[in-house]
Amino acid sequence: MTKGRFYLTTPAYYVNDVPHIGHAYCEIAADVLARFKRMEGYEVFFVTGSDEHGNKIAQSAEQHGKKPKEWADKVVAKFKEAWEKLNISYDLLIRTTDDYHESGVQKLFEVIRDNGFIYLGDYEGWYCVPDEAFWTETQIVNGNCPDCGRPVERVKEKSYFFKLSAFQEKLLEHVRSNPTFIEPETRRNEVVSRIQQGLNDLSISRITVKWGIPVPGDEAHTIYVWVDALINYVTACGYGTDEKRFRDIWPADLHLIGKEILWFHTVIWPAMLMAAGLPLPKRVFGHGWWTVEGQKMSKSLGNVVDPIELADKYSADAVRYFLLREGAFGKDSDFSLSSVISRINNELANDLGNLLSRTLAMIKKYNKGAVPRADSVTAADNELLDMAKGLFARVKAQMEQLQFSFALDELWSFVRRCNKYVEENAPWELAKSPEKKARLDTVLYNLAESLRIITVLLRPFMPTATARMWSQLGLDDSADLSFDQANTWGVLQAGAATNPGEALFPKVKT
Ligand code: MSP
Repeated sequence: MTKGRFYLTTPAYYVNDVPHIGHAYCEIAADVLARFKRMEGYEVFFVTGSDEHGNKIAQSAEQHGKKPKEWADKVVAKFKEAWEKLNISYDLLIRTTDDYHESGVQKLFEVIRDNGFIYLGDYEGWYCVPDEAFWTETQIVNGNCPDCGRPVERVKEKSYFFKLSAFQEKLLEHVRSNPTFIEPETRRNEVVSRIQQGLNDLSISRITVKWGIPVPGDEAHTIYVWVDALINYVTACGYGTDEKRFRDIWPADLHLIGKEILWFHTVIWPAMLMAAGLPLPKRVFGHGWWTVEGQKMSKSLGNVVDPIELADKYSADAVRYFLLREGAFGKDSDFSLSSVISRINNELANDLGNLLSRTLAMIKKYNKGAVPRADSVTAADNELLDMAKGLFARVKAQMEQLQFSFALDELWSFVRRCNKYVEENAPWELAKSPEKKARLDTVLYNLAESLRIITVLLRPFMPTATARMWSQLGLDDSADLSFDQANTWGVLQAGAATNPGEALFPKVKT
């Protein structure tokens, strides 16, 4: 029985350059959530994409001596390679150059125009190509983009406009009555105060941009790349091609994006949907940015971190773990190799890897590798057992807030509690007295069963390592890995064979 649909999206990444850890961050977060929701029993639709039109891409293609589409194909292949390497379980990677997307964009444009919210006018102002964003005279700072600081270009041309100004009150009303529509809260407040300052109509076509989707009925105009890209969220689920599917899936349950593109997703996109008479996404979450050793990540500084290289060196699971563990989701985080290595060595190899290997080694030594019986539970086990039984609820509560690092905190508190339980009960001491065999067995059972629960809950974060943990615990793939099993104590069967194997995470030499 499915719990219903969960439609989750990442941004459509620009293909002017290859993926870096900033892109990987959003993608991994979305993947962990998608896996978590699937294990909860939802029918997940997880969409990622590439944003391929506009001058930014055309210019980068030209610099590489390629046609825009040729260049986009090459970069998209790099994104796909990264997502495969990082075990991203997306259901669809939509490209804004896909035919079904292009026709869907034209259709939505026409609907909004027919509804009276698009008109032809004159645009005069400034344009930032790297951000693909329009700015007014008062917004620019010394001839530079107020957002990224790079020079803006003067634009003076006929343009189609979207009547964004018509939606000010409706948007404010929507944000007020849907407190989780924009998260985190600090960002919601920023967006609200900007809306309150007033909304200008938005130029949504360019004559000077050739690489893009033509305005239907007026092909001299190219649809503004942001309008084109945002529409991917509806074309991905059938808008313009399969109305039934679209009605089934839309609205999205969550748009996961970075903080700097919240305006597009929480103001422009909802206003476009309102103008088209379509429902709004339920929730938009803007995560923080990564710096690298305290500095902005940039090509010119030469400090861009390649997620593929990182995964090759330390494993996809370690990268997934690190990126979600290092900082609170919604806040900025700082990347350094020394912190990656220390998390791998302390948390993955020591805390988790050792707990598994020492538990299985003791089961092998004291019970011939078979899961022991738990006939001698005492009050001293209560704390561990209670913690184990409440773990799923605590992890789930954090996941619902998209607080991945706190969900991992909960898991690691339990991992550490298990390690403490080993020390408290000293199985090697119990093993010295044959009359304590029942107690020894119980202690080892409790550890193995705790590890089983940890494995289930950790699975969305680290799909490869947890598959190995699962098989080392003697469970086969067909065993139920849904969260129902994380909520039940006593699933491991006495007598079943365990399979101790290689270390889960080898220590990185420093
Ligand atoms: N093409 C637009 C999105 C259109 S969605 C309809 C775009 N693309 S992007 O490639 O520039 O950025 C994609 C995502 O990467 C954004 O969510 C952004 O926040 C994220 N990141 C880019 N650099 C980042 C960091 N240094 N750290 C974390 N995330 C960052 O914007």
